[in-house]
Amino acid sequence: MVLFQKKIDPARTGVDFDRLPGHIAIIMDGNGRWAKKRGLPRTAGHAAGAENFRTIATYCKDIGLDYLTVYAFSSENWRRPKEEVGAIMGLLKKYLLEAVSRMERDRVKMEFFGDLSPLAPELRELCQRTREISRHYEGCQVNICLNYGGRDEIVRAARAYAQDCIDGKADPNHLTTEGFGGYLYSRGVPDPDLVIRTSGELRLSNFLLWQLAYAEFYITDMLWPDFSKEELLRAIAAYQSRDRRFGGV
Ligand code: FPP
Repeated sequence: MVLFQKKIDPARTGVDFDRLPGHIAIIMDGNGRWAKKRGLPRTAGHAAGAENFRTIATYCKDIGLDYLTVYAFSSENWRRPKEEVGAIMGLLKKYLLEAVSRMERDRVKMEFFGDLSPLAPELRELCQRTREISRHYEGCQVNICLNYGGRDEIVRAARAYAQDCIDGKADPNHLTTEGFGGYLYSRGVPDPDLVIRTSGELRLSNFLLWQLAYAEFYITDMLWPDFSKEELLRAIAAYQSRDRRFGGV
């Protein structure tokens, strides 16, 4: 909180820090366009994006956010050129190695949503190690969506649930939305209150289809590497000005 107070005057942000959203989800879009604007290869945009992820995730922890979930690599992103996929995987590895080395200090709990099985064994093991070490941390939880697709997540959950019914561990007559949520990658994590998408696109792109049912949207034209702490606070202030009715009046 000290770091945060030094940099930005809370009184001037319009944010009520006692009423932060519990969970923010971010679609970090626009790395490629950021690079193109500067005449750089797309991979340079991802490197800048990874750096900004580090800044924003640290800031979320500093202001006391409980959960942050980011879309790092979708199940459709494998269609990108091999070199670009390799660069993103390399950035993830670099980030996780750094995260492991400073875990005791940061005490950020890290989780991964997605099918990690097609990842390189080294990266997969690193994800498992990060998850394992930080399991008992009580501060901010950062969920990285990696080889993640919302429809795929729901189908996997349905499959696991059907198997439990076959095994006599579940009864379809008693299935509830909460019960089904327990089969998703996000089990135990409250749904996002606010979803932010950078670079002005107005799509969900298969992100957290189940969990975003009642989330508030904040779309900004800023490209992800330019997305700043100030813009994050503007998103939170916009969220706080909304009237959330959850289908009621
Ligand atoms: C979208 O921009 C971004 C991605 C598909 C990858 C996001 C990856 C990172 C930010 C780096 C690694 C992440 C972590 C957590 C260390 P785009 O390439 O679709 O941009 P464009 O729409 O402008 O082409």
